[in-house]
Order: sequence, then structure tokens, then C-alpha cells
Amino acid sequence: MAGRIPQQFIDDLLNRVDIVEVIDSRVPLKKKGKEYSACCPFHSEKTPSFTVSQNKQFYHCFGCKASGSAIGFLMEYEHLSYPEAIEELAHSQGIEVPYEGGQRPDPALKKVQTDLYDLMQETAQYYQHQLRQHASSEQAIKYLKERGLSGEIAKDFAIGYAPDSWDGLLKALGTSAEREKALVTTGMLIQKDSGKCYDRFRDRIMFPIRDRRGRCIAFGGRILPKASSNTDKEGAKYLNSPETPLFHKGRELYGLYEARQALRDIPRLMVVEGYMDVVALAQFDVRYAVATLGTATTPDHMQRLFQLTSEVVFCFDGDRAGKDAAWRALQTCLPEMRDGRETRFMFLPEGEDPDSYIRKIGKDAFEAELKQSQTFSEYLFKQLTNEADISGIGGRAKLVETAQPMLSQMPEGIYRKVMFEQLEKLGRVELSQPESAHSEMKRRFKSSRQAASNNMKTAMSPVRKAITLLLYQPSLAQHWLQRNSDYNELAKLDLPGMDLLLEVLEILRNSPNLSTSALIERWRQTPTANHLAKLASWQPELDDYEALEIEFSALMDALNKQSVDHRYDDLQAKLDHGTLNEAEMAEYKMLLQQIYAAKSASKPD
Ligand code: GTP
Ligand code: MN
Repeated sequence: MAGRIPQQFIDDLLNRVDIVEVIDSRVPLKKKGKEYSACCPFHSEKTPSFTVSQNKQFYHCFGCKASGSAIGFLMEYEHLSYPEAIEELAHSQGIEVPYEGGQRPDPALKKVQTDLYDLMQETAQYYQHQLRQHASSEQAIKYLKERGLSGEIAKDFAIGYAPDSWDGLLKALGTSAEREKALVTTGMLIQKDSGKCYDRFRDRIMFPIRDRRGRCIAFGGRILPKASSNTDKEGAKYLNSPETPLFHKGRELYGLYEARQALRDIPRLMVVEGYMDVVALAQFDVRYAVATLGTATTPDHMQRLFQLTSEVVFCFDGDRAGKDAAWRALQTCLPEMRDGRETRFMFLPEGEDPDSYIRKIGKDAFEAELKQSQTFSEYLFKQLTNEADISGIGGRAKLVETAQPMLSQMPEGIYRKVMFEQLEKLGRVELSQPESAHSEMKRRFKSSRQAASNNMKTAMSPVRKAITLLLYQPSLAQHWLQRNSDYNELAKLDLPGMDLLLEVLEILRNSPNLSTSALIERWRQTPTANHLAKLASWQPELDDYEALEIEFSALMDALNKQSVDHRYDDLQAKLDHGTLNEAEMAEYKMLLQQIYAAKSASKPD
């Protein structure tokens, strides 16, 4: 008999398939804002209350309450057993299902990943160390100083120096054949045909690129000017890590992690071109700049930016290339322009980049110009009316022809409506608004959903709310987990649901990338799964990642405080009865200090 299917494989499989595709090929779905919907295949209905969330990889019917993952859907819809449903999904992906005791999955895979992250961390530390230590790092330090960077900013961005040598990193970190191979995988070493390796980055200022969890995943290296000893004087000004298993440049933004570290609330994010632009702006206390890594802004970038803030500003050179790039950026942000969001376009005087410009005019003037910069609608219509002479019929037709398909890409909402109205005014035409046909359906759909989430709002305890937030977006846990590695004390709080919350946290600590559905799969065929599925249908009023993350952390901190107070009361009682032992006495003192520190920190001056 075949053995169990490893949990890791199921997690990976659910990460890999898209539930929208799985369901859509069986029950055609319609896109409704962020989610997809259809008439429920599991009960008979005339208006659709069956929804599929791509984010959560989860389906849910507001009518009959059916819900689950892609696996669950296949089990219900095609009457498959659990392993059969997994086989079916794996087959659709062209992969084989491993069974424990039978043919094995690759257990080394996950470990290798962890090791790569560790190695990148060591690499970053090595370069930072070289900047402080290396005999020839003077040149690099001098250059950074000339460009006006303080030690503090260099430290915030973990800037380092790769020495002028073919084997500096190789010798320091490539201490075994395995590590050498891993350094090649991370792109830090280059392997020659002969099999020998050498350092990719030599005599360069090193900017580590960090992912959303702060892990170093790649580097950008800047050449030093006129260094006589430079081994590749003719080399490119900037050298970036290649694409690696850890690094996909179309997804990452330089400086995003640092911005989140520096700011509690992110008022806006500004997209600039260069590493030095991000760092120089930070030096002037403009902490919300990020850079694309030598590529145009991708849809992935846009989604990540708007997860964290409601305003994205593109800052470009005022030259031709800058204007072309801005127009491309505008196209990319169309599908993300939902109500409550804004995009701005700021053009700098020719020959300036954000780095040189803020040095020239300072933070206040820079931000004043930012406030004056063109909004999404201003820029779009100004650009289009520049291109077509709308005093004539031909020009107006051209305007409408170009603009209509663009505006159609915007998500439904007021913003889109107003944009269409403006287009009608400028083009002097009446356009059929594609969304109006569905509005009745949409309204019903919304109100049934509203009812569901309103029900949930009553009687939501902090523990339940914390679990609900994690089900909405499992990655919300990571920020808090990074700061709180030990949360076992919480178990002592005798609150309903606490065990479940701790279990969820533990799972997410070990598997940070789980989707909602993969998370709920862990409780398959237990009553808890139903309970979790109910909580998973909750929707926040405002889908603001940062706000939700803060809410989650605040809930957890409050629970933490409650558990500290609780323990303190216990110990205090023991002290009063003279039954406190030595270890408990030490703990008591520590808690006392903690409580005292927390109080004086929250006291207003
Ligand atoms: P500084 O000259 O140090 O001020 O650099 P910068 O940040 O102003 O760079 P620049 O405006 O010249 O280029 C913007 C971005 O384009 C850089 O940050 C790099 O990401 C990328 N880039 C620039 N030059 C090169 C190059 O020669 N090769 C590669 N791969 N990327 C480059
Ligand atoms: Mn520059």
C-alpha cells in the first residue's frame, strides 16, 4: 500500500496550482473586483454567491457555505478521494506524487534553500566587514563620504565593499566544495569551464538587496571611479546579481524592506531608478523611496507597492527616456487603480536624478514639488490630449480610441467611472459603460458578503481576530514572528482558541509562504477545518496590508502583555504565601522590571 503523501509536497502543490484555473476549467468564473464568482456548483441558485479568491487560493459559497482549497474542490466536484484529488492536481502540473516509504520527494530541497539564505547573509556580512577592515577599502569609504553618506545610512542599508581580488569571497566563504557550489548558485561566484571559480564582484561598493523579510537575496555592485588598481576598469557602472533561486528581479524592489523598517506608516512609496537615489533620499530623511533593479516596473511590483501604501509616486528624468518610462509605468498601474489609491508622476529637470536634485534643493522643496506633481488622471489626459488635437473630430476619435481600452483595464469603482466621464467630456461622446450591465448582480453579491462579514464582527475576541487576520493573509504573521521568537508563555493564558492560534503561528513560522488554503488543509477532516473556513470568509473594510499587519501585531502584543500580567499575579500570590522558589524569584524580578519599563515608556512626558 502506498504510504502517506508528505505535507511539504501538498503545501508546494497548493502553492503551485492556481485554484482559479482549476475551478474555471470546470465551472466558468467571472472576475468581480479582486475575486471570481459563479453560480454555486454545489447548490441550485440563480444569482452567484460562489466566490473564489486567488489570494487565499480558497473558494467559498455564501449561500450553502461550501468552502475549501483546490484539493477540496476536486473532492467535492469530481467525487474524488483525498489522494485522488492530489494526484489529479499533480498530474495537471506534470509532477509525480511522492509517497512516504515509496518513491521519495527531494528532502534536500528545502534545506538547500535555507542554506542559500544563510550563505547570502554571511556574504553580506563579509562585504560589510571588508568596508571597515580591508586595507584598500579607504577608496570606497572616501567615495561614499564624498557622496554625502553617513555611517548610519550605510549601516541601515548594510552597504559593503567587495575587495579588488579574484578570490576574496571564494577564500573567505567557499570553504568546502558544497559551499563553493552554493555560492555559484547564489550568483556570488562564477564558475569557469575548467570548473574553477572566481568572485563575481570585485572592487565594488556592494548594495545588498533584501526581500520582504529582510533576508539578503542579491546584490548590486557599483564600480569605484578611477581606481587605478581596478581589475575591471572597463566594466559596467553597476553589476547586479543574476536571477537565482532566491532572486527574481521583476519582483523585488531595492529599499522596500528598509522603508518598512524606517517607517511605521508608509505615507507613499516613490519609485526611482537607482540604488544611489534610494540611499541619498534616505540620507535626506525621505525614507519612502524604492528602486526597480534595472528593469521597468512590473505588475508584480505594482501589486507589492499598493499592498503597503495607497500612493505610489514615480520619479523620472525629464528627458525623452524618462517620459517614455513614465508612460510605460502608467500602463502597468492601470489594473491597480482602484478607489482610494493614487499614482503620481514627478519629472525632474533634465540632467538631474533624485540624488542630485535633493542635494540641490533639500527635503522640504523636494517634497513640495512632489505634492505638485501630476496625478494619474492629470498625466494620462494631458499626455493623450497633447498627442491628439481634440478641437477636431479626428483628434477626438483618436483620443477615445486610445483611452478607452486603457481605462477599461481599471478595476470597477468610482475612480474608473470618473475617468470615463472625463473621457466622454473631452471626446464629446457618450460611451457605454461596460460595468453597468453587471451592477445589479454586483450589488446583490456585495450585500450578501457584507451580511456575512457583519455577522462576524459581533463577538470577535482578540484571539479569534488574530486567527482571522492570519487566515485572510498568512504572511501577516512574519513581521511579528521576527520580533517574538518565544511566545510559549501565551499558552498559559486560558483563552478559548489560544491553542489553535499558537498552532497556526507555529506552522507559519516553519512554512512562511503558505496560502490560506494550504494552511486550512492542515486540519482536513477535523471540525476545526469548518471553523477556520468560516473565519476565512472574513474581508477587511480596507485591504491595506500594512494596516492589517499593524493590527495583528497590536493584538498579539496585547495578548503578550496579558500573559505577562497573568504570570506576575501568579508569582505575586506565591510571594505573599512565602512559597516562591529561587528561580521564580528571579522571574518575578524580571517581570517587575518589564512591567515597569513598559509603564514608563507609555507615560507621556
Ligand atoms: P550613480 O552614478 O552612482 O549616481 O548611479 P545612479 O544610481 O544614478 O545610476 P544611473 O542613473 O546611472 O542608473 C540607474 C540604475 O540603472 C542603477 O541603479 C542600476 O540599477 C542600473 N544601471 C546603471 N548602469 C548600469 C550598468 O552599467 N549595468 C547594469 N546592469 N545596470 C546599470
Ligand atoms: Mn545618480
